[in-house]
Amino acid sequence: MCGIVGAVAERNIAAILVEGLKRLEYRGYDSAGLALIDDGGALRRHRRTGKVSSLERALAEEPLSGRLGIAHTRWATHGAPCEHNAHPHFSGDELAVVHNGIIENHGPLRERLQGLGYVFTSETDTEVIVHLLHHKLQSLGDLTAALKAAVGELHGAYGLAVISRAQPDRLLATRSGSPLVIGLGLGENFLASDQIALRQVTDRFMYLEEGDIAELRRDSVQVWDVHGQPVTRETVQYHEGAEAADKGEYRHFMLKEIHEQPKVVQRTLEGRLGSDHVLVQAFGPQAAELFARVKNVQIVACGTSYHAGMVARYWLEDLAGIPCQVEVASEFRYRKVAVQADTLFVSISQSGETADTLAALRNAKSGDSKASSYLSSLAICNVGTSSLVRESDLTLLTQAGLEIGVASTKAFTTQLVALLLLTLALGQVRGTLGAGVEARLVEELRRLPTRLGEALAMDKTIEKVSEFFADKHHSLFLGRGTQFPVAMEGALKLKEISYIHAEAYPAGELKHGPLALVDGDMPVVTVAPNNELVEKLKSNLQEVRARGGELIVFADREAGIDPGPGTQVVAMPHIDDVLAPILYTLPLQLLSYYVAVLRGTDVDQPRNLAKSVTVE
Ligand code: F6R
Repeated sequence: MCGIVGAVAERNIAAILVEGLKRLEYRGYDSAGLALIDDGGALRRHRRTGKVSSLERALAEEPLSGRLGIAHTRWATHGAPCEHNAHPHFSGDELAVVHNGIIENHGPLRERLQGLGYVFTSETDTEVIVHLLHHKLQSLGDLTAALKAAVGELHGAYGLAVISRAQPDRLLATRSGSPLVIGLGLGENFLASDQIALRQVTDRFMYLEEGDIAELRRDSVQVWDVHGQPVTRETVQYHEGAEAADKGEYRHFMLKEIHEQPKVVQRTLEGRLGSDHVLVQAFGPQAAELFARVKNVQIVACGTSYHAGMVARYWLEDLAGIPCQVEVASEFRYRKVAVQADTLFVSISQSGETADTLAALRNAKSGDSKASSYLSSLAICNVGTSSLVRESDLTLLTQAGLEIGVASTKAFTTQLVALLLLTLALGQVRGTLGAGVEARLVEELRRLPTRLGEALAMDKTIEKVSEFFADKHHSLFLGRGTQFPVAMEGALKLKEISYIHAEAYPAGELKHGPLALVDGDMPVVTVAPNNELVEKLKSNLQEVRARGGELIVFADREAGIDPGPGTQVVAMPHIDDVLAPILYTLPLQLLSYYVAVLRGTDVDQPRNLAKSVTVE
């Protein structure tokens, strides 16, 4: 999704802006641009469609140099992905703005500003901001005062940065619904939509809160809160190793991140397990008291995170006896929900900035929302500084580290681990777990990183299997029980990065329709741990074989599923059935990865997708 970088310094900041944009590339975008006040005091810009490298080439051909500037990667929402819609947007040769988010009232604002004589050069919602600011500046004479006045008229979501030719000593920024972070330097300051863009220049950050307006000068940062009061936001030292943004020995970030799973699962467990139980305090000091009152769980998330929630529903109902509903956030946020008493609202998100998930949380929390009140809210999230975490009552952070591949892998498995910890914590506090279940699963969780390592050792076998997909256009994924959401996640990964059409079904649904699709050109991928449903699954596999379908089965060694004509079996390490969804996710990730490599797609940045979906 869109990215913002800004800088005010004593040195030329063009290269810093470009490097910052490069670090945000993984989020997905379709054009890039930068603007700066050049050494002669003029406002100059370059904009290009496509990759940041095109912008870099434009800079090499026609260099720009300056000490104050802003830059942007755009993911089109209003207006096509073309050069004249790319940011920064100008008002005359006076002001430049970059913007993440959506201005919902851009239509009436545009009409009003056109009435005042402003000429628009793009179809974007962003351009109204820069002209509105210019209009305010005419009467107020000061950029900060103009920004404060302009934001009062903007409806929607924004994180934005502004520079003015008339006041070349300051960079202005404000946020509402879209994250912004200030990077603090020595005699220079920076701004970005994600701290990763600024790791090259600083490790000290200040996170803006909803409604904040900030004025950055070389040697000072001033912040006003949503009420216009001056505030001091905490300075945070960043701890993540700089090597996180490096592919290391791997060809793609996705492959690196798949192989990191034993390590990050281990990290997600650290400090959260007692000798034979889950440490409930890991969810926060008030968790024990709150969890004792929980009678229902409502999970809300999008995409891969939603699939993690679907697995959790099986666990919560089966192991902890707690009724659980799971819904995609984009549906949940717009429907009138009947809330059962004592329901815990759980949001799951890698980024913690997904617009629909955040809106669902805000609805759930607000007194006047369509939903009546929830007992409390818990965020399962990978980014401790995200809006989702800041706005939830309780948090359990997954420790996946920075995930750069757009297709989520290690974030998903660490979410599953966190959700199993939640299941055990709720069951423990409410006394609803069967005898010995918690101790057994805690032991199994401790062994999980080793089991995941064993599954990853099958890398080469799976690469071989992937060849079967080289000329295929469609595929089916089947699973039963907790393996049904795993099949859904497998299908999502394959379609996202290889662009092969993939659909997932609970295996028992096959004969109710999708069986009609099965023929020799339709690979059917199945996940088959050795559990009480395996015999039923075998019947489903027979249904496929009888129609000439080609099976690829990831099966427990003892499940009794044998290879044969039309049936490839990949033997999986044995694992307790409760943890099987975590283990069986890995071969499906690897399969998608190798199919995508074979088909030559852009694995880490698949077309049309963004890493963090901060608009609706
Ligand atoms: C798929 C994928 C997306 C995200 C979804 C939610 O590989 O990454 O489906 O899972 O956009 O994102 P988060 O978890 O950041 O809320």
